[in-house]
Amino acid sequence: KSDGVLQMQSVSYQSPSNIALIKYWGKHGLQIPKNPSISFTLNTCRTTTTLSWNERTQHKDDYEVKVILDGKHKPGFEPKIHQFFGRVAEYLPFIKDYAFTVDTSNSFPHSSGIASSASGFSALALCLMEMEREMNPQMSQKAFDQKASFIARLGSGSGCRSLKGPLVVWGEHPEIKGSSDIYGIEYPYQVNPVFDNYQDAILLVDQGEKQVSSTVGHNLMHNHAYAPSRFSQAIENLSSLIPVLESGDLDQFINIVESEALTLHAMMLTSNPYFILMKPNTLKIIENLWQYRRETKIPVCFTLDAGANVHVLFPQEYREDVQDFVKTELSTYCQDNRYIFDTVGNGALKL
Ligand code: PMV
Repeated sequence: KSDGVLQMQSVSYQSPSNIALIKYWGKHGLQIPKNPSISFTLNTCRTTTTLSWNERTQHKDDYEVKVILDGKHKPGFEPKIHQFFGRVAEYLPFIKDYAFTVDTSNSFPHSSGIASSASGFSALALCLMEMEREMNPQMSQKAFDQKASFIARLGSGSGCRSLKGPLVVWGEHPEIKGSSDIYGIEYPYQVNPVFDNYQDAILLVDQGEKQVSSTVGHNLMHNHAYAPSRFSQAIENLSSLIPVLESGDLDQFINIVESEALTLHAMMLTSNPYFILMKPNTLKIIENLWQYRRETKIPVCFTLDAGANVHVLFPQEYREDVQDFVKTELSTYCQDNRYIFDTVGNGALKL
């Protein structure tokens, strides 16, 4: 409970985006995933958020928040934050006692087709948790981390995987100790050094607004003909990935990761209503990438989010070669030739 004597008046966090290897698609209840997922935390694609507050004297039955994006007041984003506050108030009861300003910016270009909700809600959740920590200084770091991820999940499901790195699991899996449906955990087992500093070249094929919001997308999995087999397949794929992450068997890694990406899109192709989220250039990139892999034997693979952009994943040792290939060939299929070279990172940072 707030006693109104917070020393801090603002706090800032930087939080990265993440890219799933085993995809989360389908949820129930309040952001509970229908299957477990695992992602690489990114490094360069980040949201920076400063949360500042003043104690309120009146109107404590609602929430008060002002959103500033890239230095400009954006009232259009405020209902989303109100909804988020409504969900988390039960767990952070001080929220009604303050008038907040959320001042946020993204390192990646605006409307680049890269979702900022995961990095954005992760950063905001961490800022709120710093207030909570000041009110409960006895809280352990583990309790802080779990609750921060829990709070981020209530804003953006996949956002609960952005706080830590390089690999985060969200959703209960029988073979992953400590895994939970309500927060993400750092992947607890051994990971082969081939995955250290793994590279992600993000090819911006379509920089517009998302064609299908993720809320609509997840809902398409209700009554979906293939949903039950998809959910068990995700569990099996995560089981298969555990020994692959340990051994560094990149052929197996590529097989699992690419199949997951295509399955995500297959779920949208076969839902009702149905959607095609790839663009012709998405397929061109995939075909080119496969040809390049056949010819060079470089273990490079792709994955996709719920959109047309392509993430090209590869080990650090091939960085120069693959970056050259992206610049000279794959970029020609990108909108305005745009791409981002990112790497796997270690999670959020308090500023
Ligand atoms: O967190 P949401 O609701 O934006 O859903 C993200 C879903 C995918 O990005 C398509 C897959 C994933 O696991 O990140």
